[in-house]
This record gives sequence, structure tokens and C-alpha cells, in this order.
Amino acid sequence: MNEKIETLKQEISQYAVTNTDELEQYRLRFISRKNVIGDLFSEMKTVAAEERKAMGVRLNDLKNSAQDKFKELIASLEDQQNGQPDDVPDLTLPPIPDSLGSIHPLTQIQNRVVEIFEQMGFNVAEGPEIETDWHNFTALNFPPNHPAREMQDTFFIEKNPDIVLRTHTSSVQVRLMESEKPPIRAIMPGRVYRNEAISARAHCVFHQVEGLYVDRNVSFADLKQTLLHFAKELFGAETKIRLRPSYFPFTEPSAELDIWWGTETEADRRVTKGTGWLEIGGCGMVDPNVLENCGIDSEEFTGFAFGMGFERIAMIKYQIKDLRLFTENDVRFLKQFRAFN
Ligand code: PHE
Repeated sequence: MNEKIETLKQEISQYAVTNTDELEQYRLRFISRKNVIGDLFSEMKTVAAEERKAMGVRLNDLKNSAQDKFKELIASLEDQQNGQPDDVPDLTLPPIPDSLGSIHPLTQIQNRVVEIFEQMGFNVAEGPEIETDWHNFTALNFPPNHPAREMQDTFFIEKNPDIVLRTHTSSVQVRLMESEKPPIRAIMPGRVYRNEAISARAHCVFHQVEGLYVDRNVSFADLKQTLLHFAKELFGAETKIRLRPSYFPFTEPSAELDIWWGTETEADRRVTKGTGWLEIGGCGMVDPNVLENCGIDSEEFTGFAFGMGFERIAMIKYQIKDLRLFTENDVRFLKQFRAFN
């Protein structure tokens, strides 16, 4: 009996567990209702009466130490599991970087353009993409059946030729002049539509920003200086611009806005068709007819307006060769704009 107690004592003190199964084995052997120590208590009746008391004390000790050990084993198992890296992150490791999206290049251009003009005191104005003929054409000095309407391949709503998808954001200029008194100084970024076949250089949906400044004594020199400042802010301090005579029904005089690109490399000559200049938009002095159509006295006020395409600007700034990339949502393309702002 003494020997058995001694052996079990040894066994208990050396017991170690690494998982819950082993812990369960221990429990069955030493703690459960029919455990080995219990068996020894049953054997007590075979012990001589004078030794029985001492034996009882020893057996009780054994039972207590088995229970203490059980608590110890549970605690040690918990420790082992807590220590496993799967359960508790190692807080000393450098963080795993979040996979952030990137801002679409057109949005980046728009944000920057808005920022530059806001610094010059321009507000941002918006208007609907589905427009009336009046706002898109008539008020802008395109009389009905005027050949200038052909300049912009328009999407019409079949049942109602008075409703069009706006072909330019000049329609927002009309809305602004109709609803506000000069001085008006605003830019209108937005999506526009033209019925063109989609290719590397043309799309039926694209984005523009137009600008309008109407006040007393606004001159062509103001227009040129505004555009020059804008171009330098966007493309760099060395940027040069050129205004080339042109025609728009809503401005008089009108000009195309070119920026200097250079003729150094073969590619430079190709994109600029040998001239070194790249066209990015149109501009001019608001035609007095347009001011009058919008309820502004053209004797008292003058204004300038300009418009340019975001796709065109983004293609120049980031050297993108195909317009279709902007709308394909190919992450390999978009990912490259993560570093820009
Ligand atoms: N609305 C013209 C276009 O889309 C651009 C423009 C705006 C030209 C303002 C002159 C003045 O082609």
C-alpha cells in the first residue's frame, strides 16, 4: 500500500500535459469518481487497524496533491495556448500594410485643377448632365439649325429633341449667369457626352472643366494671365502657353489653348505633330449675345470663358497613350497612380 502511494505520488508530480486530451487522461486517472486513488481508499479495509489512521492521512495528502496538480495542469495548458502566435498577435512585429486603393488619375487631375482655381478665387459650380437644348446650345448662341451645332456630335433623347446629353459644361455657365449677378467667378468640372466612335483618341463620355469670369472690365489679358498661371501651376514653372485664333459660337474672339511640349525626341514630335505644341482646350471672351441671353447687360459687363478636357490633361501629365484606359478599370493601370496626389 505504501509503495502504491509512493508510485502514484511520483507519477502525479512528473505529469505534464500539452493538450486537452492529455489533460482529460489525467482527470480520468486521478480526479474522476472512479479514479486510482479512490481504489486505494477501498483497499483501506485490508490495512491493519493500528496503521489505518496514518494510512488515511497519507491517502488524503495524495488526493489533495492530485487535485492541486490538476489545477496546475489546467493553468499550464492555458499558458501554452496563449503563448501561441496564432492566438495572440506579436505586438512587436511591424504592421502589415493595408492594401489601399488609389485615386483615379482623372479625379487627381480634377482635384488639382479645382485647387489651383480656388486659389485664384473661383468657386465650383455644377449642373445636370441631361440638359435642355436651351442651356447646351441656344443660349450659347447656337441658333436652331446653325451649322455650329454640327461641331459637337450630340446624343439626343429620341422622343424629345429638346433634351440632350450635355456636350460641354458650358451649359453650367448659362445656368450660373441666369441665376446670379456678376461678379461671377466659377469653374465647372463635369462629365460630358459626344456621339463619337471609341478609339485611343476619342470617347463618347469624357470630362471637362470650364471656367467663367464675368465682371466689369474683364479683358482678354485677364484670360491669358489666368490660363498661364494655371498651366504653370499644373505642369511646372517652365510651362509656356500659346493662344491660337479659333471659332466658338459663344465666345468672340475665340482661341485654342496650346501648351509647349517640346520637339526633342521622336515621341515629342509625334504627339505634337511636329509643332511642339499640344492643344488642351478652347477659350475666349463671352459673346455679348450669350450675356444678353442670360439676362446680363453686355454694355456694362464683359467676361471670359475657357474649357478643357481632363483626359487630355491627364494624358499629357502622365504620358498615357490610350484614352480607353481611363474607363476600363484595369487595376494594373490604376495601381500606378497610388503615389500621385
Ligand atoms: N465648350 C467648348 C468645348 O467643349 C470649350 C470652350 C469653353 C471654348 C469655353 C471656349 C470657351 O469645345
